[in-house]
Amino acid sequence: MPARIIGTGSALPEKVVANQELEMLVDTTDEWIKSRTGIEKRHIAVTETTTSMSVEAARRAMKDAGVGAEEIDLIIVGTVSGDLCFPSTACQIQSAIQASNATAFDINAACAGFLFGLSIAEAYIKSGIITTALVVGAETLSKMMDWKDRSTCVLFGDGAGAAVVKGSDAGIMSMVQGSDGARGGALTCHNRAVNNPYVNNGFETDYTKMNGQEVYKFAVKTVPAAITKAMDKAGISADQVKYFLLHQANIRIIEAVAKKIGQSIEKFPTNLQECGNISAGSVPILLDFVNKEGKLERGDIIVLAGFGAGLTWGAAVLSW
Ligand code: ACO
Repeated sequence: MPARIIGTGSALPEKVVANQELEMLVDTTDEWIKSRTGIEKRHIAVTETTTSMSVEAARRAMKDAGVGAEEIDLIIVGTVSGDLCFPSTACQIQSAIQASNATAFDINAACAGFLFGLSIAEAYIKSGIITTALVVGAETLSKMMDWKDRSTCVLFGDGAGAAVVKGSDAGIMSMVQGSDGARGGALTCHNRAVNNPYVNNGFETDYTKMNGQEVYKFAVKTVPAAITKAMDKAGISADQVKYFLLHQANIRIIEAVAKKIGQSIEKFPTNLQECGNISAGSVPILLDFVNKEGKLERGDIIVLAGFGAGLTWGAAVLSW
């Protein structure tokens, strides 16, 4: 049975930090950030956490879908910034929304996390193991930034997006995924080092490090190829797609992808201007924005695509 997204939700921190505020923290300018990335502001967690935003986004998605907590069979969270090493963010959501019939786990596929989660949900639904899943992409990346490093701290934001996915007559038409661990060094953040009574590595907190140009080259080559492969698999042409909803890393990447697949930039909605890059949260938050703006009608064909650390990438063609 095909799997369909039947409801979306999102949650962002209350605090909004404009580029001008960052000029006071690091040696940067609004003009540099806007011209290189398109980002104008981002939401930064103060009282919110990865779990609290995930729970809010999940509740909104369930309300949008008209689905009760007891109906959820599976909860998958794509995140690299859970509040706890364990239990998982997914188990914490399960507890908060009282989805006692669900199996819950997190996955780490960085900015492709929502796409990877969606593909797992689809596989469970298609194979008949479950009927209804909640897929969340959520991050509090602000806690993993070196706020003295201008090359990274200006790029990211916090937030969560969620989708309820259910067996239906139509929905996800194709999914494509890939990974290239050999190039993983382009974007890293170390966890704790080995440290126990037999070795003392003097663990120090590590922050996000990125080779921006490597990631840029990877994105503009891999994403159009993944989208084209997903469209071929679904048997549709780019002209039939109403919207391409891409991971919101950088407006220049989105423009390059639009050009490579020969589609107008108008078909690529964005919210990176106000949200920055929310890693696994980007795609489901953008999907929720577009859905809540009433821009999607049943039967519309849309493409979702995520890409990031790992390196990882995923693309999906959906009939709404
Ligand atoms: N403000 C002012 N100057 C800056 C800033 C800043 N915030 N950050 C870097 N610079 C400086 C650099 O120090 C460098 O100065 P130098 O020439 O004196 O050495 C200069 O700007 C150029 O730096 P580059 O890194 O070459 O800048 P580039 O044009 O490549 O833009 C960017 C950097 C925006 C990160 C770009 O490489 C990019 O878009 N990469 C894609 C990666 C991306 O978007 N990653 C997000 C996370 S990954 C993901 O989500 C997939």
